[in-house]
Amino acid sequence: MIQWQNGTVITPDQTKLPLQEVTLEIKTVEQMAEAIKTLRVRGAPLLGAAAAFGIALAAYHSKAHSKEKLLVELEDAGAIIKRQRPTAVNLFWGVDRVLNKARGFSGNVEELKAVVIEEAQKIADEDAQQNHAIGKNGAVLIKDGDTILTHCNAGELATVEYGTALGVIRAAWEQGKKIKVIADETRPLLQGARLTAYELKRDGIPVTLITDNMAGYVMHKGLVNKVIVGADRIVQDAVVNKIGTFSVAVLAHEHGIPFYVAAPKSTFDLAHKASDVVIEERKPEEVTHIGSHQIAPEGINVMNPAFDITPLKYVSAIICESQVYYSKDFGKFKDEGKRAK
Ligand code: MRU
Repeated sequence: MIQWQNGTVITPDQTKLPLQEVTLEIKTVEQMAEAIKTLRVRGAPLLGAAAAFGIALAAYHSKAHSKEKLLVELEDAGAIIKRQRPTAVNLFWGVDRVLNKARGFSGNVEELKAVVIEEAQKIADEDAQQNHAIGKNGAVLIKDGDTILTHCNAGELATVEYGTALGVIRAAWEQGKKIKVIADETRPLLQGARLTAYELKRDGIPVTLITDNMAGYVMHKGLVNKVIVGADRIVQDAVVNKIGTFSVAVLAHEHGIPFYVAAPKSTFDLAHKASDVVIEERKPEEVTHIGSHQIAPEGINVMNPAFDITPLKYVSAIICESQVYYSKDFGKFKDEGKRAK
């Protein structure tokens, strides 16, 4: 959920939801960087659009008189954005797509500004369309009466519009399928409890919240037919997504429950393998505290990886805007990766 309005980026502050609906008005690349770092703006596809709009802000507010000077400022803005989070590939993809457009442009400085802003808007518009296509492609896999477990938030908040995993759920619901959702709370930052539960409840899609450690129990009890999650990066041999996704995938495998991943092609990074991916390590306070309330002893050692790696052997299908890749198709990823290099 993000909009460009005459040099200002408008988007919800996701750290405040669900208790407060606060709208951010981002005017500088530094403000965008802060919003990305602190997860006010989050979710891989949204990060792609936010990164692109970050460069557009630098262009819009630039006082540069020459194209060369403007290009230097845009490169600097790109470097600032890329430093904020290492794992979701969309962030890098969004910066590079806009910068490549700028580098190859031969017009004057004012025209270059317009081209950069136009390219960022194009990225946002395409993301919205792609999510509707993902929803349509994925809804085929969802049956009337299914109960679908999801992890983290891959909804409209995490994208420009509609969502990826929640886009599939929305499309199935809009087709009249009577489905239910089980949302994992997603410790430590509670994207499931705060954001997925908020979106689905608001839209009237039946949702039940559980803590992450209840997923095995609900599967064992036969209360879940399908799992669907989003992704931060899809590499040749794995899906990288919010910490806890791997555990859910292994549990689904053990219980014979299909495990689906929904993501746009902008999340695919087939030139790389899981071992190449940098997993973001976030600050210990996210684990030792819930909100501002301390729950662990002072000075305790903490690990806080924000993402994990699910090998493709646990994935039943990957739904993107152009097609559904089933496990028999995953072998092609290596060759696609070679072509992408
Ligand atoms: O740390 P976050 O909240 O940005 O992590 C988000 C996720 O892991 C999502 O599942 C992923 O980005 C897909 S969003 C459509």
